[in-house]
Amino acid sequence: MADAPAALGAPLIRREGLEKVTGRARYAVEHRLPGSAHAWPVTARVASGRVLRVDASAALAAPGVLAVLTHENAPRLAEPDDPTLAVLQDAHVPHRGWVVALVVAETLEAAREGAGAVDVEYLAEDHDVLLTPDRPDAYVPEKANGGHPGLREHGDPDGAFASAPVRVDTAYRVPPLHNHPMEPHASTARWTDDGRLEAYCSSQGTTKVRQTLATMFGLPEESVTVRAEHVGGGFGSKGTPRPDVVLASMAALHTGRPVALALPRRDLPQLVGHRAPTLHRVRLGADSDGRIRSLVHEVTTHTSRVREFVEQAAVPGRTMYTSPHSRTVHRVARLDVATPSWMRAPGETPGMYALESAMDELAEALGMDPVELRVVNDCRTEPDTGKPFSSRHLVECLREGARRFGWAERDPRPGARRAGQVLTGTGVASATYPVLVSPSTASARALPDGTFVVRTNATDIGTGARTVLGQVAAEALGAAGDRVRMEIGDSDLPSAPLAGGSSGTASWGWAVHEACTRLARRLAVHRGPLPQDGLEEHADTAGTADAESDHARHAFGAHFAEVGVDTVTGEVRVNRLLGVYAAGRILNPRTARSQFVGGMVMGLGMALTEGSTVDPAFGDFAERDLAAYHVPVNADVLSVEAHWIEEDDPHLNPVGGKGIGEIGIVGTAAAVGNAFHHAVGVRMRELPLTPDRVLDALARRSPERGRA
Ligand code: MOS
Repeated sequence: MADAPAALGAPLIRREGLEKVTGRARYAVEHRLPGSAHAWPVTARVASGRVLRVDASAALAAPGVLAVLTHENAPRLAEPDDPTLAVLQDAHVPHRGWVVALVVAETLEAAREGAGAVDVEYLAEDHDVLLTPDRPDAYVPEKANGGHPGLREHGDPDGAFASAPVRVDTAYRVPPLHNHPMEPHASTARWTDDGRLEAYCSSQGTTKVRQTLATMFGLPEESVTVRAEHVGGGFGSKGTPRPDVVLASMAALHTGRPVALALPRRDLPQLVGHRAPTLHRVRLGADSDGRIRSLVHEVTTHTSRVREFVEQAAVPGRTMYTSPHSRTVHRVARLDVATPSWMRAPGETPGMYALESAMDELAEALGMDPVELRVVNDCRTEPDTGKPFSSRHLVECLREGARRFGWAERDPRPGARRAGQVLTGTGVASATYPVLVSPSTASARALPDGTFVVRTNATDIGTGARTVLGQVAAEALGAAGDRVRMEIGDSDLPSAPLAGGSSGTASWGWAVHEACTRLARRLAVHRGPLPQDGLEEHADTAGTADAESDHARHAFGAHFAEVGVDTVTGEVRVNRLLGVYAAGRILNPRTARSQFVGGMVMGLGMALTEGSTVDPAFGDFAERDLAAYHVPVNADVLSVEAHWIEEDDPHLNPVGGKGIGEIGIVGTAAAVGNAFHHAVGVRMRELPLTPDRVLDALARRSPERGRA
C-alpha cells in the first residue's frame, strides 16, 4: 500500500492509530505545562435565583488551594455570541448546575477538596422545568436550530387529513439525551509573558474557540492559539466553545499559572448541552394505495432562559416523502433548565424516530408492507422546496437492505414468533441527513525531498479525518500517501470550520483538494530543483463552498432491526441491526464503516437504554454519570452491519462525499421500536424501551395475542 498512491476509496488505517493505542497521544489536560495548576468548578444548588454571598475562606485555607474565582473577583469578559459562556460574570443563576465559583489549586485533589469547602448562599426563586405538550407559553420560533423555519405549511393539511381514507394520528416522546463523550470537556490554558493566550482544548473546532476567546478577553485573534490535536469524542457537544476553556483561561489569567480544567462528569449534563426532550404529534393521511396526502408533524420542546436552541425535529418531514399537504412546526418553551445544544444529527434523530414510527403505524393501518409504503412515497423533488434532489437512493437502500436482511421471508403478523419466553420481530425505518458544507482554507507545500505538507485546522474527533484528508491530498497531488504529512488541530493553521454537521470532510477536503490541485499544476510546469523551503499553494473556498445549490442535497439510508423481547424480564435484545446508506462517494471504507456503526450503536442506545430525566424538585438531570446514563454495550446487540451504495453525485464537492458522521443514528431507534411492535404486538411510543416500561406494555396486550 505504501508505494501505491493512497487513492480515495482505500481502507487505510488511522494515521494516529499507533499513538492512540500506545497512549502517546496527548489530550487536552494531558499537556503537563511547567507550573500547572488544576481547577474544579462549584455549581449552583438552586434551579433559579441568584448568589447572595460566596464564603471562600475555608477553601482558601485548605492545603494547596491557590484561588477561588467568583463573580466578584473573576476577570471581566466581553459579551460572547453564546451567553452560556458568560460564566462568573454576575450573580444570576439561570439553572441548577450553572458555575458559581472555580477553585484553583496545586493538584486536582486539592482543587476538588477546595470546591467542596466553598460555602455559597443563594436567594432561591420558584422554578419551572417541566415540559408538557400543552404549555401555553410555548411559542413558534422564527428559526429552529440550523436556521430552519419554525413553521412550514403547504396546501390544506387539516382538510386533506380529515378526508383521507386511511389515517394515523399518534404521539411520541423522546426524553432528553446526553452526548457523554469519553473525554470530558477539558482545557489547559496559559498566558505567555508577552500577553498571548494559548490553550489545549477538547473541541470539535478550534478556529471558533480562538475567535471566541479573542472576543471575550479583548485580544486580537493572532494573540490566541488553540490546539486540539486529539479529541476523545464530542457528538456535537464540543461543536462550539464550552465553559471549560473560558474558565481555564480566566483562572490562568487570575493566578498567573497554566491551569488545567476537566469538567467533572457529573457537571457535564448541565454545562455542555443536551438533546432537548421532544414531544411529537404526527398525523399521516393516505389513500388506500398508501400514497400520503397529508403529513403533519408538530414538535414541542424546551430551551433555557440563557439561550434559545430549538431542536429542529419536524424538519425531516419536509424532505422524506411525497405529501401535497403538510405542516411541520416547532414549538418551544423557555424553562429554568440547562441549555440544550447539538447532539449527533440534531433534529433528524428524534424527528425520524417519530416520523418513521408513524410510517410503521400507517403501514399497519393500510395492511401494507412497511418497505413498500416507503417506496410508494419516494419522490424526485424535495416536497418542501420543490428542488430536485441532487441524488436520492432511498429506494435502493431499502431494497438492498431488505435483500441482505432477508425481509422477503417476513411474516407480517405481530406477536407471532415465540421461542420459550422470547418473542421475536423485525422492523425497518428510513434515514436521512442533509449535505452540509462550509468554506474552509488549506495550504499545500512541496518540499525539495519529494514530500508534502498539507495544513488546515481540521479536527479529528475520532472519525479518521486526518487519515481521509491525507487521502484527499495524496490523490490530488498524485503522490503516495506516506509522502504527505497532514497538519491539523491547531488554530495557527489555515482556518477551517468545525467537525460537525457531517460536513468536515466535505468542507476541509474541498480546500485541501483545491490547494493540492493547484500545487500539482504548478509542479507539473516547474523545471529544476525546488527552492529550499519548497513551493506552496493556498486555497480558500469562501464563495464556492457556500454557494446556494439549486438542488436539494441529502444522504439517505435504511435501517433493519431484529429484536427479541423477553416476556418475563422485559429485556429487549437486538439480534441484528443492518444499515444501508447512500451518502455519495465513500472515501475510506474502514473509517466510514466505523462512523456508520457508531451512529447505529448510538441509535440503539436511544432506543433501549439512554435517557435523562429532568428532576422536577431540583431542576437538573437525575442521571449524572455513566452508571445512571446507560450507553449500550456489546451484550445489547449481537450483530451490527453497515453497507452502502456508491453514489456519483456531481452536485456536491470535488471530493464527492455527502457526509457520514450522523446518518447512522437517524431512524435506528424507529427500526428497533417497529421491530419491538412486530415482536409483541404492542406499540410503545416513548423511549427508551426499558424493562419496566416493556413489562407494563406487555401487561396491556389484548388476550388473543397470547399470554406472556
Ligand atoms: Mo454534530 S451534532 O453536527 O457535531
